[in-house]
Amino acid sequence: MKYYGVFGNPIAHSKSPLIHRLFAEQTGQQISYEPLLAPLDDFTSAVTAFFKTGSGANVTVPFKEQAFALADQLSERALRAKAVNTLKKLDDGRLLGDNTDGAGLVNDLLNNHVELAGKNILILGAGGAVRGVLEPLLAQLPAELCIVNRTVEKAEQLAQEFSDIGPMTACGYDWIDEPVDIIINGTSASLSGDLPPLASTLIKAGDTVCYDMMYGKQTTVFNQWAQQHGAARTLDGLGMLVEQAAEAFYLWTGVRPDPAPVLQQLRAQL
Ligand code: ATR
Repeated sequence: MKYYGVFGNPIAHSKSPLIHRLFAEQTGQQISYEPLLAPLDDFTSAVTAFFKTGSGANVTVPFKEQAFALADQLSERALRAKAVNTLKKLDDGRLLGDNTDGAGLVNDLLNNHVELAGKNILILGAGGAVRGVLEPLLAQLPAELCIVNRTVEKAEQLAQEFSDIGPMTACGYDWIDEPVDIIINGTSASLSGDLPPLASTLIKAGDTVCYDMMYGKQTTVFNQWAQQHGAARTLDGLGMLVEQAAEAFYLWTGVRPDPAPVLQQLRAQL
C-alpha cells in the first residue's frame, strides 16, 4: 500500500480523494489517498510528518507557494508557475515539486478538440491561477497569448516574465474588442458571481470557444455571458480538475488513468 493525500486548509470539501480513489480502482493500484488538513502556520511540519510514510501529495489553497519553497527539486513547469500542486518523494528521500495545473487545462482543451496551435487566445486575470498555466499553454504554440487584467501592470509583468517562451502580450479590458479564437477566464471574479468587463465583440458567434477555470453546479457567470453572445462552445474547470489529478497520478504511479468516466461521475454529483 502506498500513501497519498492532498494538503489544504480548509480541505474537507476537496474532490481530490474521490478522484484519486476512482483512478486507483480503474487502474488496479493499491493506494490510499486522504485529505490532509495542514495548520496555516506550520505547513512544513505537516509535510515532513506525512512523508515519513507518504509517497506523494497534492497541494491546494493556500499552500502552493509554500510547497514551491519547500521542494528540494522542481520541474520546469513548477519553476515557471512559482507554485507546486504535486509533491513526490524521490528514491533518495528528497521531494520533487511539480505543477500539473497547466497540463490539466491544456489536456482538457485538447480532449474537447479545442486546438491551441496558431490561435489567438485571451487569458483573463494575472494572479496565481493564471501564472500556473502559462507555460503549458505557450508550449502549444498559440499565435498570440494576451493576458487581460484590471490592473494592467500585473498583466504586463507576467507577460514580460514569460516572453522568452512565446508570443505574450498584455492589455486592459477596455483596450480590446476584436474577435478572438479562445477566451480563458482565470480571474477569481466567478467566485463572487462577477463578470470581468469584456466587450461582447470579442466573441465571434459560432467560432469563439470560452473556458472558465471555475466550475459549479450552475453555468458560471462568464460562461453564461459567452453563451448569450453566441460562443461556439463553453467549457468549465471541472475537466481541468480531473486532468491535473490524472497528471499527478501518472507522475506518482507511472500509470495514466482514463479521466473521462471520472469526470462524468463528478459532473453527475455536482
Ligand atoms: P488566484 O490565485 O486565484 O489567481 P489572485 O492572485 O487573488 O487569485 O488573482 C485574482 C485575479 O482575478 C486578479 O487578476 C484580479 O484582478 P486584479 O489583479 O486587477 O485585482 C482578478 N479579478 C478578481 N475579481 C475580478 C473582477 N470582478 N473583475 C475582473 N478581474 C477580477
